[in-house]
Amino acid sequence: MPTILDGKQVRDAILASLRPRIAALEEAEITPGLAVVLAGANPASEIYVRHKVKACVDLGIYSEKHLPTVDVTTEEMLFLIRSLNDQPHIDGILVQLPLPDHVDDREILMAVHPLKDVDGFHPMNAGNLMTGLPGFRPCTPAGIMRMLEHYKIPIAGKRAVVIGRSNIVGKPMAMMLLHANATVTICHSKTVGLAEECRRADIVVAAIGRPGFVTPDFVNPGAVVIDVGMNRLHDRESVARIFEGNEKKLADFAAKGTVLVGDVHPAVFRDCAAYTPVPGGVGLLTIAMLMSNTVESAELRLARRRGTSIS
Ligand code: GUN
Repeated sequence: MPTILDGKQVRDAILASLRPRIAALEEAEITPGLAVVLAGANPASEIYVRHKVKACVDLGIYSEKHLPTVDVTTEEMLFLIRSLNDQPHIDGILVQLPLPDHVDDREILMAVHPLKDVDGFHPMNAGNLMTGLPGFRPCTPAGIMRMLEHYKIPIAGKRAVVIGRSNIVGKPMAMMLLHANATVTICHSKTVGLAEECRRADIVVAAIGRPGFVTPDFVNPGAVVIDVGMNRLHDRESVARIFEGNEKKLADFAAKGTVLVGDVHPAVFRDCAAYTPVPGGVGLLTIAMLMSNTVESAELRLARRRGTSIS
């Protein structure tokens, strides 16, 4: 039977390790602060932002929401980000993606001060990751590394295949696995022989955003499979095809009119060494790592105040 890599367990371990650090900051009269910026009305983003704010409340992290309307201009967004950069009680600025199409997201992400860039998306932090320097790491791949550590999954010397080359997940994931001494291949929509590349892997990370894309012919039976996908299915035909014979999922769909599926086809999970479920896997870790980066940023604020920081 494959091991289920349980996101809740790892999330709880991460959050438990943050509580004493937050208490120590409070003793020094610092409350970590996170500003969340959500532009426009995107239902999925609204749910993510609600969860992020709730995580702050649960931990005693100060948070504030900024909700520019969908017609916000790049200049207005830049003004907001710059004002948040200047506010000492804000340790982290999170700009929820995607932004409205007419807003220049590169310019916005570059405007976030690298020391408040708790998403790790600023080119300076991307460069820090690439060169192995300290800096904020993107939350989803950082959470996956915690997951692999928690379950003592060996990485050094292993073959890892990352499917997907986004700046948010695929590229930083590959870099983190490389720093942990894996032999890393990045695959994408133009890769020739994708299934064959994946079959050679000891660790497969699927981050392509296509429901049930990774099928059993992609995966060798000893592989660890990490599923980053969060795809919401709304049509009965796809649900019946992907979850054939899974009465519970079919009943869920009948009741709610929607079900969540990862990038990995459920049939893969019968035949691999370990896997992350969807929901209940990687998704929970993204928010936990956002909290972790925010606490780290507040600790750096304290270190600067005490004159013991190098940043
Ligand atoms: N949209 C999808 N994933 C993310 C994420 O990790 N951070 C932000 N800011 N937006 C996202």
